[in-house]
Parts: sequence; structure tokens; C-alpha cells
Amino acid sequence: MRQVSGLLKRFTDRRSFLKSSAMAAGVSAMGAGMFPGNSAAQDLDGERISEGDEAILRFLAAAEIIESDLWQQYNELGGVNGGSQPYINALEQLDGDLPQYITDNTDDEISHETFLNAYLVMKGGRPVDLDGFRTLPSSQASGARQIGRLTNLFNLTVDTSWWVRYRSETNPDLGATFPQVVSIVNRPAIPKNNTELNDANHTQALANTAGFHFAFIEQGGTSLYAEMAQKVSSLEVLRIVVSIGGTEIAHFQTWHDKAGNAPPLSDNGLVFPNFNLPPFTNGETVQKNKIMPEPCQFLNPKLPLCSIIRPTDAKDAAKRALAAFTHDGLFIGQTNNEFFEFMQHLADAADAARRRV
Ligand SMILES: [Fe+2]
Ligand SMILES: [Fe+2]
Repeated sequence: MRQVSGLLKRFTDRRSFLKSSAMAAGVSAMGAGMFPGNSAAQDLDGERISEGDEAILRFLAAAEIIESDLWQQYNELGGVNGGSQPYINALEQLDGDLPQYITDNTDDEISHETFLNAYLVMKGGRPVDLDGFRTLPSSQASGARQIGRLTNLFNLTVDTSWWVRYRSETNPDLGATFPQVVSIVNRPAIPKNNTELNDANHTQALANTAGFHFAFIEQGGTSLYAEMAQKVSSLEVLRIVVSIGGTEIAHFQTWHDKAGNAPPLSDNGLVFPNFNLPPFTNGETVQKNKIMPEPCQFLNPKLPLCSIIRPTDAKDAAKRALAAFTHDGLFIGQTNNEFFEFMQHLADAADAARRRV
């Protein structure tokens, strides 16, 4: 197993390094990009990335910081060294390997965040730092570190339309819309405290919600990287975007396979159906084991159906990703408007980037 704690340590060291290298250049981290001649700007091929590529990588770095923050909360409670055994037991109902997958997904997001920021610095760009906005409360349940968070996992409204979208022959890029397979509105995905875990049915509801949230987050990354790749100018940045994007797809595929194992239950109005009964055993657009992307319309309905990830329309992709995070409830409780303004600024800049070769 890769050790998250070791990675976190290196991650912290790296962040200290990022800050100190910017300081050494006599500028703040935010202003480092103004001075392409500083020591942090020395890179492998001696070229500074374009403004557009920098904007794309900065938005992706911010998205990865947000992903890391939420995955760390899941990992502390339900990962391989997670501290909340009743929660782990419930997660394992979806798959006995779930704690390992949670820990590995967490490691991967931290590596994405750390790599993107380090690459930005290496190319004379500005890294992204959201530490000042880590003000949301932690869970009080066993295992959770008592630190400020960027994301809130207690009031999630999980968009589960990806379930039907990936089983359908129609494509959101051509205007198709898809129903929710489970209605998860304003629900917790982790326990607030140990007392909450005394109710086994409720604990399973937390784990089931988490199971669908995992897939929601990673299908978002799947589309976001494919969308951003179309705006990139540098071949090296394109390589980064498609390479990290592939890992997001691997994550989504894993979670997609596990979500359908969520046991049926009803918890104070939240209902998970029995995925082992019709229509989930025989209905084409909801069938549980149809986890591979069904061939769908792509580019033009006159063309043959094609198995692809979707959506991939690059228009307003960063703004849509930010809106999806927000609608998910991840930022409920964030009272500092500067956070939303900064994220909007990053999204606007990324969406304004155009491919130039
Ligand atoms: Fe990621
Ligand atoms: Fe991800």
C-alpha cells in the first residue's frame, strides 16, 4: 500500500518548497508568474507555458485541491487506516476492497494536485493555494483529523444521472438529459460523530451515499480533463492533461462498478433501490452490470454510435465543473466570498483559453 501519511508529508514539504521558492524570488506565490526569469521558472525545455495553458492548469490544480480535500476526509474515516470501523464495515458492503480504493484514490488526487502546482512553478506559472479557505468543520467521528476543511460532506446533493447517461445511446453534448437513478438530496456521506454510527441502517445509508458520490466526483474529472485537453496549446501540457485524465477515468470506472452494490435501504426518506431486481437486472438504461460506456451519439447523429466518455464539449467546461461542485453541496458553510470569487476567476480564465499551435 502506498502510505498516504508519507505522501502527505512530501506534499506538505512540496508546498513549503513552492512557497519558499516564490519567496526567494522576492515575490508572493501569486505573483511568481510575473517574473518568468526567476529561479522557479527554469524548466526542462526552457520555455514558459502560455497564458492559456497556465490558466487551464491552474483551474485543474484548484479542482484537484478540492478533490484531495474531500477524498482525505473519506480516507481518514474509511480508508485502509481509517478510524471508523462501523463506517468501514458499511463501505465494505459495496466491495471488500473499498477501503483500499479510497486510500488509493486519495493518494492519486494528492499526486495530481502536487504535480500540477510543481509543474506550474517549473514553467514560471503561478501555483494555486487554497489553504486560506480551509475553514469548514471536520467530522468528530473516530479517525477524522481536527483540521479546517475546504469541502463539506454532510449536506450532499449527489447528481446520479451519470448512471443512465453512460447506459444511454444519447449524448449530453447533443442536448440529451438523464434522470436520477437515486435521489440523494442534502444528505451526509460521512458521520458527524460516533453516535451517528450506532444506527446500522443509517451508517449503511452514509456508505451508499458515499459510493454514489465517489462515482459522481470521478465522472466529473473524466469529462473535465477531456474538455480541457481541447484548449491546450503545448504538447507537453496536452500530455499532462490526457495522462491525468486517464486516471480520472480509471477512478470513475471503478466506482461505477461498485456503486450498484449498495444494499437496498430506506433511511428517513432516502431510498436506495434493490439493484439486484428488475429493472436493474434487465432494463438497458439502468441495468446494474452495464458498467462499460454504452456506444452513443457523438459529434453528429448521422455518424455511427461510438463508446466514449461524455460530456466532452469544451465550452464553459471549467465553469460547469465549478457549478457541479457547488450544486453538490461541497461548499455549504463557506462564508468567505473571496473563495467563490477566486474559483470563478480561475474558471473564467481557463474557459477563455484557446488552443494555439
Ligand atoms: Fe484528480
Ligand atoms: Fe479524481
